[in-house]
Amino acid sequence: MNREKNLDTAFFRQPLGMSTLFMTEIWERFSYYGMRAILLFYMYYSVSEGGLGMDQVTATSIMSIYGSLVYMSGAIGGWISDRIWGSRRTVFLGGVLIMFGHIALSLPFGIPSLYASIALIVIGTGLMKPNISSMVGDLYSEEDKRRDAGFSMFVFAANFGAAVAPWAVPWASNGFGLHLFGAHQNFHAGFSLAAIGMFFGLLQYYFGGRKTLSKIGLYPSDPLDKESGRRVAKWVTIIIVILIVIFGGMAMLGQLNITNIINLITVIAIALPIGYFIMMISSKKVTKVERSRVIAYIPLFYAAAIFWGIEESGSTILALFAAQRTILHVGGWHFAAANFQTLNPLFIMLLTPFFVWLWDHWKGQPSAPGRFTIGMVVAGLSYVWMAIPGILFGTSGKVSPLWLVGSWFIVEIAEMLISPVGSSITTKLAPQAFKSQMMSLWFMTDAVGQAINAQIVKFYSTANEVPYFFAVGLVSILFGVVLAFFVKRIHALMQGVD
Ligand code: GLN
Ligand code: ALA
Repeated sequence: MNREKNLDTAFFRQPLGMSTLFMTEIWERFSYYGMRAILLFYMYYSVSEGGLGMDQVTATSIMSIYGSLVYMSGAIGGWISDRIWGSRRTVFLGGVLIMFGHIALSLPFGIPSLYASIALIVIGTGLMKPNISSMVGDLYSEEDKRRDAGFSMFVFAANFGAAVAPWAVPWASNGFGLHLFGAHQNFHAGFSLAAIGMFFGLLQYYFGGRKTLSKIGLYPSDPLDKESGRRVAKWVTIIIVILIVIFGGMAMLGQLNITNIINLITVIAIALPIGYFIMMISSKKVTKVERSRVIAYIPLFYAAAIFWGIEESGSTILALFAAQRTILHVGGWHFAAANFQTLNPLFIMLLTPFFVWLWDHWKGQPSAPGRFTIGMVVAGLSYVWMAIPGILFGTSGKVSPLWLVGSWFIVEIAEMLISPVGSSITTKLAPQAFKSQMMSLWFMTDAVGQAINAQIVKFYSTANEVPYFFAVGLVSILFGVVLAFFVKRIHALMQGVD
């Protein structure tokens, strides 16, 4: 029952605005994960198979660094919304860029299209993703107890879109099962479907938003004044000049190639959070208690980075394993390597109710650092598990799809232990003066993980899979074990945050 008379409960007990954000998120994640499900194959398949014919290592590195950039750009998107446009407009423009990004890939212009698409989707997602999440928060007043349930619902939307897309998009690229494109795939048809998905998302957002979002996100929360504007313009200019100098220097030395650009982005992705931490710890606006909380956050940050490294390798390393090492049928039921991407969001949707129940009922449940510890070990096990088929059967043949299903099941248990608690602990440990930037810092855990992936994927090949899975899995497990010894210390440093 609603005690407050005017509580808006129009959308499954949530405010009506949720219907718009929910549907928009479904379509946006549909377009993103649908595109990601086939992109790796598009890049390294030979031209005669409809691909770009890149070498596999470069393609896998690009996938990773692309993922890293997508989560780094959120920092800029959050800032633009807070200070200039407000979230409503920022999200819309982000969606438009994303749609054009998919359209770029749907056109037959090869590598230039690929890079244009990456640029558009990196910027577009940076504008959209953090701000649509913050609009979800804006639907609720401070006291509204439905806030957590609202966020869970929103996460469900993301995963629903992400689960459907790896069926729909590869299906489109295979000519809807009608052999429209002969024996090969037409990846452009798949990317077109992603573009159409984002288009539906934009329609939903625009028309639904006018009806249901009233004034939410129409104005920046902390509008930029003239003086700060000038300061920011100065810094942006400095950064652009530095980038021009770096790229110009690389070009003059004949070093401006994709490998070096990837290396440079890796360095930036790793340096950025270090810069944030130094800034927060040394800032005069941060109190002693807050400083201690930031220090507690550092080991959790790197734990999460390792976790995302493993989780995000689902669309790179495990996608290769699906294509090269996995039997792609069960009896008479045939499927595509890209379809495996459905497993991650599917397991999230299946496991979420269980974990909600668990946290409600488990009296001596582990604290946030405790959950991270277990999550690290479990994530590592999902990789160690992938070393087993190679040990048992050698690496030259193909193995049951159940190996991949098992690995995704295990890693999603880890995701349940790390992702929800990670984003909430991030806001709780944030110093007052850095509140709005702190969410960007959480997304940077993913960016760091994928930036490291962009480097280590070089060591992956079918012949090398056993040591690869073992080594990476072991790093995660060891980090988890070491973290276990520090759980109490970290908890103390958190100064009462739970
Ligand atoms: N996979 C989730 C999404 O796409 C969350 C990713 C993350 O937090 N890094 O929304
Ligand atoms: N793991 C991805 C997310 O949670 C699919 O949406």
